[in-house]
Amino acid sequence: MTNWRDFCLKSASDYADEFKALSESTEPQHSAILPSEMLLFCAVAKALGIDAVVESGRKLGYSTEIIARCGFEDFTSLDVDPAKEADDALLQRLGVAGRVKLEKLDAMMFLRAVTEQGDAILLDGPKGRKALGLVSNLLGQSGMMAVHDLNVSMKDERATAAEMGAFFSDDEEFLSEHGHLDETMLTYRGYGDHGELISVANVLAVFRGGYNGRDGDGNSRSWWSCDVFAPGDICKS
Ligand SMILES: C[S@@+](CC[C@H](N)C(=O)[O-])C[C@H]1O[C@@H](n2cnc3c(N)ncnc32)[C@H](O)[C@@H]1O
Repeated sequence: MTNWRDFCLKSASDYADEFKALSESTEPQHSAILPSEMLLFCAVAKALGIDAVVESGRKLGYSTEIIARCGFEDFTSLDVDPAKEADDALLQRLGVAGRVKLEKLDAMMFLRAVTEQGDAILLDGPKGRKALGLVSNLLGQSGMMAVHDLNVSMKDERATAAEMGAFFSDDEEFLSEHGHLDETMLTYRGYGDHGELISVANVLAVFRGGYNGRDGDGNSRSWWSCDVFAPGDICKS
């Protein structure tokens, strides 16, 4: 039996080498999700056996590029106000235009419509309460969800996320193992270490979804009633 924190830590450790190789060519950017946070998101999705990802909030596309490079079968990225030049540059960097569907959509209105049962969903716009509202609406049907920027200054939102069982990327053990991935990005933002940055920005909260595929009889399986997180394990209760 594994709890969610242990599952997240182990998934990240198991995927770390592969992630490093896949993400090496992606240029760090100012105001993007940190590499360690992207490792966490992609690693947990992979460990849950999820092959479809929906992201909301791509801006210049750092997180989008990383998810695309991690090679999920189906990947859609929404932004309410995308910049055409940024999207064109992203597709050029990726080289394979078909690897990600770039949409101009407001997640508050359209996230439900573009997600399917079992998807991994990454929210980096909208933020805060709006993002948590989407989590409470969609978590049950998703495979996992993650919300960016739930830092320690957002006490109420962070407490809500903790009550919902989130694992946070500023976990001490997680940072001591994977924080080194963020060195360049921290420098870009003028921070010497995580301590300064994560008090004002960043921190990814990762939630286990309620959906874990279908069993042999076509019944949906749920994490909620399950203590076992290994993909392929069918919930007994
Ligand atoms: C911090 S940026 C995203 C950075 C990106 N994830 C990265 O790592 O490089 C936030 C983006 O979210 C978008 N956004 C804000 N509210 C949104 C909404 N309701 N639906 C979709 N996109 C939204 C903004 O237009 C902006 O481009």
